[in-house]
Amino acid sequence: VLSEGNKKIIKNLLQKIHSQTEVLGAEALARLFECHPQTKSYFPKFSGFSANDKRVKHHGDLVLKALVDTNDHLDDLPHHLHKLAEKHGKDLLVDPHNFKLFSDCIAVTLAAHLQEKSPETHCAVDKFLEEVTYQLSSLYR
Ligand code: HEM
Repeated sequence: VLSEGNKKIIKNLLQKIHSQTEVLGAEALARLFECHPQTKSYFPKFSGFSANDKRVKHHGDLVLKALVDTNDHLDDLPHHLHKLAEKHGKDLLVDPHNFKLFSDCIAVTLAAHLQEKSPETHCAVDKFLEEVTYQLSSLYR
């Protein structure tokens, strides 16, 4: 559960990244594909998997925008993420194990690009991504 302190850090951070969703999202996805190549199998239409690839940029943008959009809903993530949870849990059926892999790639990407690298930010980002992926995994069964 996110503490008030965690929420404050996350709100600040999501505000900062809202204009960089494409660059950050593409890098996070490229890290996922590089470190865990088996994840490429979920994206059969992609012809390239680097951060410069058009489809990687587009999808990365979508994912990071979805994270930025949680900013006004940190107290109500289950309701806010319900549709996305349905998409992943009933339609895409991405093995939920991959959410953890992707969360780590997102966390590394944020740390690489943002000034805030304190233990408190690290912890808040970790808890936030854990909460989001818990919700995205919630409708698998
Ligand atoms: C689609 C977010 C994790 C695979 C999407 C979409 C969003 C999204 C916003 C577009 C939904 C729509 O079109 O209605 C997220 C978030 C994640 C996450 C916030 C975790 C932080 C993952 C992981 C995988 C994955 C780990 C697989 C390794 C897909 C696929 C699609 C998709 C295959 C459909 C792509 C397409 O339509 O071309 N995701 N996702 N997602 N996601 Fe996720």
